[in-house]
Amino acid sequence: MNQVGNLLLLPGDGIGPEVMGEVQRVVGWFRDRQGLGFECETDLVGGSAYDAHGTPLADSTLALAKAADAVVFGAVGGPAYDQLEFRLKPEQGLLKLRKELELFANLRPAMVFPALAEASSLKKELVEGLDILILRELTGGVYFGEPRGIEELPDGTRRAVDTQVYTTAEIRRIASVGFELSRKRQGRVTSVEKANVMHTGVLWRQEVTKLHQEQFPDVKLEHMYADNCAMQLVRRPKQFDVIVTDNLFGDLLSDAAAMLTGSLGMLPSASLGAPDQAGRRKALYEPVHGSAPDIAGQGKANPLAMLLSFAMMLRYSFDLGAEADRVEKAIGAVLDKGYRTADIMQPGMREISTTAMGQAVLDELDASLG
Ligand code: IPM
Ligand code: MG
Repeated sequence: MNQVGNLLLLPGDGIGPEVMGEVQRVVGWFRDRQGLGFECETDLVGGSAYDAHGTPLADSTLALAKAADAVVFGAVGGPAYDQLEFRLKPEQGLLKLRKELELFANLRPAMVFPALAEASSLKKELVEGLDILILRELTGGVYFGEPRGIEELPDGTRRAVDTQVYTTAEIRRIASVGFELSRKRQGRVTSVEKANVMHTGVLWRQEVTKLHQEQFPDVKLEHMYADNCAMQLVRRPKQFDVIVTDNLFGDLLSDAAAMLTGSLGMLPSASLGAPDQAGRRKALYEPVHGSAPDIAGQGKANPLAMLLSFAMMLRYSFDLGAEADRVEKAIGAVLDKGYRTADIMQPGMREISTTAMGQAVLDELDASLG
């Protein structure tokens, strides 16, 4: 047995545990069929952590996350926690992990599997063959900027403040990841901000332009306002290769891009830190979809975004590109055979449960061994 690394599994809330269950089966497959061992520890995060410990991320969990080679994350949140004060909300568990592990680079690839081109809300010809990468800055901007909060005013009304803030260093480090990734793709970067109204946008544009001239002149760089980018994504999405943008715009644009692929249930993500001396990056892998409390516990969740996130982990944390391809190809084959979870169901296809979908992927993995 080749011990590859140790993983912290954080299933979280809602459909998180269901989709994580399928990851565990794929981990088992790699152990039994490929001799690749991942040591897994499982812990609580989000609402489930709040229920057990009164906090969405216990210190002991954070310590495990810091020690792990990679964190595999399900989803957090649910109506039961809506009334909690801000710092106790399930989402804070995720935001704290991103911040504490300094996972500044969030890769959200939107790829359309041939079998799903019909499931997109856009016309088939607009999305067929689509392969774009949204690179979202994840540890800065309005998500974390100070001051923030809600205050009472003397007249009894209230005032809320969030702060959008970016430094040269933050902009340059996310932009260089974008330029580097584009070199392995089509060599095109679209940098997205609102330089027409926001100072952070002006600085963003200037710093990206400067970095491009200094270090990445071979890459084709284009600037675009975020509102226009949203429009272009639904108008002609194939014009993009890599989109580099800030935390909030990236949150919005990646949900839109996800829908191009047929379902939010199909979009994986990787959140990476800076490489250490040994070249290793801290990393967290999560599906872009949320906890979907409305369908939790019913076996209806689509595990494919979670499994595609696991494939990203194989590729980015463990340099197991061939194994990542194997998982992605298995998923493509399952879709080609007409298997669908409810979210991507189409006429003439076969609707199956979360575990049946996981099993179908395992069967294809078996078949790939010949
Ligand atoms: C995402 C989610 C999170 C975010 C929430 C759950 C805090 O929407 O990962 O896109 O806003 O970043
Ligand atoms: Mg989001």
